[in-house]
Amino acid sequence: MKKRWSLLALASATLLLAGCAGFGGIQLDKVGEKDSVSYFKVALNQTESHPSYKALEKFAEDVKTRTDGRYVIEVFPNAQLGSQQEVLQYVKSGAIEMAIVSGTQLENINKDFRVLNMPTTFSSIEHQMKVLQTPQIVGDLFASLEDKDNITVMGGYTQGSRHLYTTFGPVKTPADLAGKKIRVQESDMHIKMIELMGGSATPLSYGEVYSALQAGVLDGAENNIVSFNTARHMEVAPYLSYSNHLVGLDYMIIRHDLLEAMPAADRDTLYTAWYDSMDFHTKLWKDYTEESKAIAEKTGATFHEVDEEDFAKALAPIVDMFVSDGYQRKLFDAIRAVDTNSNEGGK
Ligand code: GCU
Repeated sequence: MKKRWSLLALASATLLLAGCAGFGGIQLDKVGEKDSVSYFKVALNQTESHPSYKALEKFAEDVKTRTDGRYVIEVFPNAQLGSQQEVLQYVKSGAIEMAIVSGTQLENINKDFRVLNMPTTFSSIEHQMKVLQTPQIVGDLFASLEDKDNITVMGGYTQGSRHLYTTFGPVKTPADLAGKKIRVQESDMHIKMIELMGGSATPLSYGEVYSALQAGVLDGAENNIVSFNTARHMEVAPYLSYSNHLVGLDYMIIRHDLLEAMPAADRDTLYTAWYDSMDFHTKLWKDYTEESKAIAEKTGATFHEVDEEDFAKALAPIVDMFVSDGYQRKLFDAIRAVDTNSNEGGK
Protein backbone atom coordinates (compact mmCIF):
# COMPACT_ATOMS: atom_id res chain seq x y z
CA MET A 1 0.00 0.00 0.00
CA LYS A 2 2.80 2.39 0.94
CA LYS A 3 4.63 1.74 -2.30
CA ARG A 4 1.52 2.68 -4.23
CA TRP A 5 1.35 5.87 -2.19
CA SER A 6 4.91 6.82 -3.08
CA LEU A 7 4.29 6.38 -6.80
CA LEU A 8 1.02 8.23 -6.60
CA ALA A 9 2.72 10.91 -4.55
CA LEU A 10 5.35 11.42 -7.20
CA ALA A 11 2.83 11.56 -10.04
CA SER A 12 0.44 13.88 -8.25
CA ALA A 13 3.18 16.14 -6.90
CA THR A 14 4.52 16.61 -10.42
CA LEU A 15 1.06 17.40 -11.77
CA LEU A 16 0.13 19.66 -8.90
CA LEU A 17 3.36 21.60 -8.94
CA ALA A 18 3.28 21.94 -12.71
CA GLY A 19 -0.36 23.02 -12.56
CA CYS A 20 -0.16 25.62 -9.81
CA ALA A 21 0.25 29.29 -10.70
CA GLY A 22 3.77 28.78 -12.02
CA PHE A 23 6.36 26.82 -10.06
CA GLY A 24 6.78 29.88 -7.88
CA GLY A 25 3.33 29.21 -6.39
CA ILE A 26 1.27 32.14 -5.20
CA GLN A 27 1.67 35.71 -6.52
CA LEU A 28 2.84 37.70 -3.51
CA ASP A 29 1.70 41.16 -4.66
CA LYS A 30 -1.88 39.91 -5.03
CA VAL A 31 -2.17 38.27 -1.59
CA GLY A 32 -5.20 39.50 0.35
CA GLU A 33 -6.56 41.73 -2.48
CA LYS A 34 -10.25 42.44 -2.14
CA ASP A 35 -11.51 40.78 -5.28
CA SER A 36 -9.03 37.95 -5.59
CA VAL A 37 -8.68 34.57 -3.90
CA SER A 38 -5.34 33.40 -2.48
CA TYR A 39 -4.88 29.63 -2.53
CA PHE A 40 -2.51 28.12 0.06
CA LYS A 41 -1.49 24.49 -0.36
CA VAL A 42 -0.73 22.58 2.87
CA ALA A 43 1.16 19.29 2.69
CA LEU A 44 0.44 16.52 5.19
CA ASN A 45 1.80 12.95 5.31
CA GLN A 46 -1.18 11.49 7.21
CA THR A 47 -4.48 9.94 6.11
CA GLU A 48 -7.90 11.60 6.24
CA SER A 49 -8.76 9.76 9.48
CA HIS A 50 -5.79 11.27 11.36
CA PRO A 51 -6.53 14.14 13.81
CA SER A 52 -4.05 16.38 11.99
CA TYR A 53 -6.11 16.17 8.80
CA LYS A 54 -9.30 16.93 10.71
CA ALA A 55 -7.73 19.88 12.50
CA LEU A 56 -6.33 21.23 9.22
CA GLU A 57 -9.75 20.99 7.59
CA LYS A 58 -11.18 23.05 10.44
CA PHE A 59 -8.34 25.55 10.06
CA ALA A 60 -9.13 25.86 6.33
CA GLU A 61 -12.81 26.32 6.97
CA ASP A 62 -12.23 28.98 9.64
CA VAL A 63 -9.80 30.94 7.49
CA LYS A 64 -12.19 30.91 4.55
CA THR A 65 -15.15 32.06 6.65
CA ARG A 66 -13.23 34.69 8.56
CA THR A 67 -11.78 36.25 5.39
CA ASP A 68 -15.02 36.11 3.39
CA GLY A 69 -13.50 33.58 1.04
CA ARG A 70 -10.39 35.64 0.14
CA TYR A 71 -8.14 32.83 1.42
CA VAL A 72 -8.64 29.20 0.51
CA ILE A 73 -6.43 26.64 2.25
CA GLU A 74 -6.19 23.35 0.39
CA VAL A 75 -5.04 20.36 2.43
CA PHE A 76 -3.19 17.58 0.60
CA PRO A 77 -3.06 14.45 2.83
CA ASN A 78 -1.35 11.06 2.26
CA ALA A 79 1.97 12.68 1.29
CA GLN A 80 0.42 13.53 -2.09
CA LEU A 81 2.84 16.45 -2.43
CA GLY A 82 5.87 14.43 -1.31
CA SER A 83 7.66 13.16 1.79
CA GLN A 84 8.26 15.61 4.64
CA GLN A 85 11.87 16.03 3.52
CA GLU A 86 10.64 17.01 0.05
CA VAL A 87 7.83 19.33 1.09
CA LEU A 88 10.18 21.18 3.41
CA GLN A 89 12.23 22.04 0.33
CA TYR A 90 9.06 23.04 -1.57
CA VAL A 91 8.07 25.51 1.15
CA LYS A 92 11.62 26.90 1.16
CA SER A 93 11.56 27.41 -2.59
CA GLY A 94 7.99 28.78 -2.62
CA ALA A 95 6.52 25.94 -4.71
CA ILE A 96 3.97 25.33 -1.95
CA GLU A 97 2.86 27.60 0.86
CA MET A 98 2.62 25.48 4.01
CA ALA A 99 3.39 22.02 5.39
CA ILE A 100 3.17 19.94 8.53
CA VAL A 101 6.59 18.48 9.25
CA SER A 102 7.97 16.55 12.18
CA GLY A 103 10.40 18.31 14.51
CA THR A 104 13.13 15.97 13.32
CA GLN A 105 13.00 17.58 9.85
CA LEU A 106 13.67 21.02 11.32
CA GLU A 107 16.53 19.84 13.52
CA ASN A 108 18.31 18.91 10.29
CA ILE A 109 18.36 22.59 9.25
CA ASN A 110 18.80 24.11 12.71
CA LYS A 111 20.16 21.92 15.50
CA ASP A 112 18.45 24.08 18.15
CA PHE A 113 15.17 22.31 17.29
CA ARG A 114 16.68 19.15 18.78
CA VAL A 115 15.88 20.45 22.23
CA LEU A 116 12.16 19.98 21.53
CA ASN A 117 12.61 16.52 19.96
CA MET A 118 14.46 14.98 22.86
CA PRO A 119 13.27 12.31 25.27
CA THR A 120 12.71 13.98 28.69
CA THR A 121 11.97 17.47 27.28
CA PHE A 122 8.18 17.23 27.55
CA SER A 123 6.47 15.27 30.29
CA SER A 124 2.98 15.54 28.81
CA ILE A 125 0.94 16.95 25.94
CA GLU A 126 -0.25 19.74 28.26
CA HIS A 127 3.33 20.67 29.04
CA GLN A 128 4.22 20.66 25.35
CA MET A 129 1.24 22.85 24.37
CA LYS A 130 2.00 25.29 27.16
CA VAL A 131 5.55 25.68 25.83
CA LEU A 132 4.31 26.21 22.25
CA GLN A 133 2.05 28.98 23.48
CA THR A 134 4.83 30.80 25.36
CA PRO A 135 6.57 33.14 22.87
CA GLN A 136 9.21 34.07 25.46
CA ILE A 137 10.43 30.47 25.22
CA VAL A 138 9.92 29.55 21.55
CA GLY A 139 9.60 32.92 19.74
CA ASP A 140 13.25 33.17 18.65
CA LEU A 141 13.41 29.52 17.70
CA PHE A 142 10.28 29.75 15.56
CA ALA A 143 11.71 32.79 13.72
CA SER A 144 15.20 31.31 13.38
CA LEU A 145 14.69 29.92 9.85
CA GLU A 146 13.24 33.07 8.33
CA ASP A 147 16.39 34.70 6.93
CA LYS A 148 18.22 31.64 5.64
CA ASP A 149 15.37 29.32 4.71
CA ASN A 150 12.34 31.60 4.18
CA ILE A 151 10.37 29.54 6.70
CA THR A 152 8.32 30.71 9.68
CA VAL A 153 7.19 28.15 12.25
CA MET A 154 3.63 29.01 13.29
CA GLY A 155 3.28 26.45 16.07
CA GLY A 156 2.54 22.75 16.16
CA TYR A 157 0.37 19.71 16.72
CA THR A 158 1.34 17.10 19.27
CA GLN A 159 2.51 13.65 18.20
CA GLY A 160 1.60 12.41 21.67
CA SER A 161 3.59 9.68 23.38
CA ARG A 162 5.72 7.53 21.12
CA HIS A 163 6.16 3.83 21.85
CA LEU A 164 8.05 0.87 20.39
CA TYR A 165 6.35 -1.78 18.29
CA THR A 166 7.84 -4.88 16.76
CA THR A 167 7.26 -7.76 14.38
CA PHE A 168 8.74 -10.43 16.64
CA GLY A 169 7.00 -10.13 20.01
CA PRO A 170 6.69 -7.73 22.93
CA VAL A 171 9.75 -5.84 24.13
CA LYS A 172 9.95 -5.64 27.90
CA THR A 173 13.47 -4.40 28.62
CA PRO A 174 16.23 -2.71 26.58
CA ALA A 175 17.97 -6.12 26.34
CA ASP A 176 15.08 -7.38 24.17
CA LEU A 177 16.09 -4.90 21.47
CA ALA A 178 19.64 -6.25 21.08
CA GLY A 179 20.43 -6.73 17.39
CA LYS A 180 16.94 -5.61 16.32
CA LYS A 181 16.54 -3.12 13.48
CA ILE A 182 14.21 -0.35 14.57
CA ARG A 183 13.07 2.41 12.21
CA VAL A 184 13.61 5.98 13.36
CA GLN A 185 12.92 9.35 11.78
CA GLU A 186 15.79 10.94 9.86
CA SER A 187 17.65 12.38 12.88
CA ASP A 188 21.09 11.71 14.40
CA MET A 189 19.61 12.20 17.82
CA HIS A 190 16.86 9.65 17.25
CA ILE A 191 19.42 7.16 15.94
CA LYS A 192 21.25 7.60 19.23
CA MET A 193 17.96 7.34 21.12
CA ILE A 194 17.31 3.82 19.77
CA GLU A 195 20.92 2.79 20.34
CA LEU A 196 20.70 3.88 23.98
CA MET A 197 17.45 1.89 24.25
CA GLY A 198 19.38 -1.20 23.11
CA GLY A 199 18.41 -1.49 19.41
CA SER A 200 20.01 -0.92 16.06
CA ALA A 201 18.55 2.21 14.43
CA THR A 202 17.49 2.50 10.76
CA PRO A 203 16.44 5.99 9.61
CA LEU A 204 13.72 5.90 6.96
CA SER A 205 10.97 8.12 5.59
CA TYR A 206 7.51 7.53 7.15
CA GLY A 207 5.94 6.39 3.88
CA GLU A 208 8.47 3.56 3.51
CA VAL A 209 7.99 2.02 6.96
CA TYR A 210 5.00 -0.23 6.24
CA SER A 211 6.63 -2.13 3.39
CA ALA A 212 9.99 -2.35 5.19
CA LEU A 213 8.27 -3.93 8.20
CA GLN A 214 6.29 -6.23 5.94
CA ALA A 215 9.39 -7.31 4.02
CA GLY A 216 11.26 -8.05 7.24
CA VAL A 217 13.89 -5.40 6.49
CA LEU A 218 12.92 -3.87 9.83
CA ASP A 219 12.13 -5.63 13.12
CA GLY A 220 10.19 -2.72 14.52
CA ALA A 221 9.51 0.99 14.64
CA GLU A 222 8.45 3.63 17.15
CA ASN A 223 5.51 5.96 16.86
CA ASN A 224 2.29 7.03 18.56
CA ILE A 225 -0.78 4.78 18.76
CA VAL A 226 -2.63 7.00 16.28
CA SER A 227 -0.04 6.42 13.52
CA PHE A 228 0.29 2.77 14.55
CA ASN A 229 -3.35 2.58 13.43
CA THR A 230 -3.72 5.12 10.59
CA ALA A 231 -0.48 4.10 8.83
CA ARG A 232 -1.55 0.45 9.40
CA HIS A 233 1.79 -0.45 11.02
CA MET A 234 -0.29 -2.52 13.47
CA GLU A 235 -0.87 -5.05 10.67
CA VAL A 236 2.82 -5.83 10.23
CA ALA A 237 4.36 -5.06 13.64
CA PRO A 238 1.51 -5.91 16.01
CA TYR A 239 3.35 -5.96 19.39
CA LEU A 240 3.25 -2.50 20.93
CA SER A 241 5.25 -1.88 24.12
CA TYR A 242 4.46 1.22 26.18
CA SER A 243 8.02 2.56 26.27
CA ASN A 244 6.63 6.11 26.37
CA HIS A 245 10.10 7.37 25.42
CA LEU A 246 9.14 10.64 23.79
CA VAL A 247 6.30 13.16 23.49
CA GLY A 248 6.81 14.10 19.84
CA LEU A 249 5.94 17.28 17.97
CA ASP A 250 4.87 18.26 14.46
CA TYR A 251 5.23 21.86 13.24
CA MET A 252 3.23 24.02 10.87
CA ILE A 253 5.66 25.80 8.59
CA ILE A 254 4.81 28.60 6.15
CA ARG A 255 6.74 30.64 3.57
CA HIS A 256 8.06 33.64 5.45
CA ASP A 257 7.84 36.03 2.48
CA LEU A 258 4.18 35.10 2.08
CA LEU A 259 3.43 35.85 5.71
CA GLU A 260 5.18 39.22 5.27
CA ALA A 261 3.20 39.98 2.11
CA MET A 262 -0.15 39.44 3.84
CA PRO A 263 -2.03 42.50 5.15
CA ALA A 264 -1.53 42.60 8.94
CA ALA A 265 -5.21 41.97 9.71
CA ASP A 266 -5.23 38.87 7.50
CA ARG A 267 -2.06 37.60 9.14
CA ASP A 268 -3.75 37.96 12.54
CA THR A 269 -6.78 36.07 11.26
CA LEU A 270 -4.55 33.29 9.95
CA TYR A 271 -2.75 33.00 13.31
CA THR A 272 -5.97 33.05 15.32
CA ALA A 273 -7.47 30.28 13.20
CA TRP A 274 -4.24 28.33 13.49
CA TYR A 275 -4.16 28.58 17.31
CA ASP A 276 -7.81 27.45 17.37
CA SER A 277 -6.89 24.46 15.27
CA MET A 278 -4.03 23.60 17.65
CA ASP A 279 -6.53 23.49 20.55
CA PHE A 280 -8.95 21.47 18.46
CA HIS A 281 -6.20 18.99 17.54
CA THR A 282 -5.21 18.47 21.18
CA LYS A 283 -8.85 17.75 22.02
CA LEU A 284 -9.15 15.22 19.20
CA TRP A 285 -5.86 13.56 20.06
CA LYS A 286 -6.72 11.74 23.26
CA ASP A 287 -10.01 10.31 22.02
CA TYR A 288 -8.45 9.19 18.78
CA THR A 289 -5.59 7.53 20.66
CA GLU A 290 -8.15 5.46 22.56
CA GLU A 291 -10.08 4.71 19.39
CA SER A 292 -6.89 3.72 17.56
CA LYS A 293 -6.03 1.30 20.32
CA ALA A 294 -9.46 -0.32 20.01
CA ILE A 295 -9.13 -0.54 16.21
CA ALA A 296 -5.64 -2.05 16.52
CA GLU A 297 -6.83 -4.62 19.05
CA LYS A 298 -9.61 -5.64 16.68
CA THR A 299 -7.03 -6.34 14.00
CA GLY A 300 -5.07 -8.53 16.43
CA ALA A 301 -2.45 -6.10 17.76
CA THR A 302 -1.49 -6.41 21.43
CA PHE A 303 -0.35 -3.78 23.97
CA HIS A 304 2.27 -4.47 26.64
CA GLU A 305 3.59 -2.75 29.72
CA VAL A 306 7.38 -2.32 30.10
CA ASP A 307 9.46 -1.17 32.99
CA GLU A 308 9.45 2.50 31.92
CA GLU A 309 12.19 3.24 34.44
CA ASP A 310 14.59 0.88 32.63
CA PHE A 311 14.14 2.79 29.40
CA ALA A 312 14.22 6.17 31.12
CA LYS A 313 17.53 5.25 32.77
CA ALA A 314 19.00 4.10 29.46
CA LEU A 315 17.95 7.39 27.83
CA ALA A 316 19.15 9.73 30.58
CA PRO A 317 22.54 10.56 28.95
CA ILE A 318 20.92 11.90 25.77
CA VAL A 319 20.40 15.43 27.10
CA ASP A 320 24.07 16.05 27.78
CA MET A 321 25.02 14.38 24.51
CA PHE A 322 22.86 16.66 22.37
CA VAL A 323 22.38 19.94 24.25
CA SER A 324 25.49 21.45 22.77
CA ASP A 325 25.65 25.15 23.64
CA GLY A 326 24.45 27.85 26.03
CA TYR A 327 21.38 28.80 23.98
CA GLN A 328 20.17 25.20 23.81
CA ARG A 329 20.77 24.70 27.53
CA LYS A 330 18.78 27.84 28.33
CA LEU A 331 15.96 26.69 26.06
CA PHE A 332 15.91 23.24 27.66
CA ASP A 333 15.90 24.70 31.17
CA ALA A 334 13.12 27.18 30.30
CA ILE A 335 10.98 24.34 28.95
CA ARG A 336 11.60 22.16 31.98
CA ALA A 337 10.81 25.08 34.29
CA VAL A 338 7.21 25.34 33.03
CA ASP A 339 6.53 21.62 33.34
CA THR A 340 3.02 21.22 34.70
CA ASN A 341 3.99 17.71 35.74
CA SER A 342 0.43 16.61 35.01
CA ASN A 343 1.71 13.36 33.60
CA GLU A 344 -1.23 13.07 31.25
CA GLY A 345 0.76 12.81 28.06
CA GLY A 346 1.30 9.10 28.57
CA LYS A 347 -0.54 6.26 26.98
C1 GCU B 1 4.23 10.86 13.37
C2 GCU B 1 4.26 12.31 13.00
C3 GCU B 1 4.71 12.52 11.55
C4 GCU B 1 6.01 11.80 11.30
C5 GCU B 1 5.90 10.35 11.72
C6 GCU B 1 7.23 9.61 11.55
O1 GCU B 1 3.22 10.20 12.67
O2 GCU B 1 2.99 12.89 13.21
O3 GCU B 1 4.88 13.87 11.28
O4 GCU B 1 6.36 11.88 9.95
O5 GCU B 1 5.50 10.27 13.07
O6 GCU B 1 7.57 8.82 12.41
O7 GCU B 1 7.91 9.85 10.55
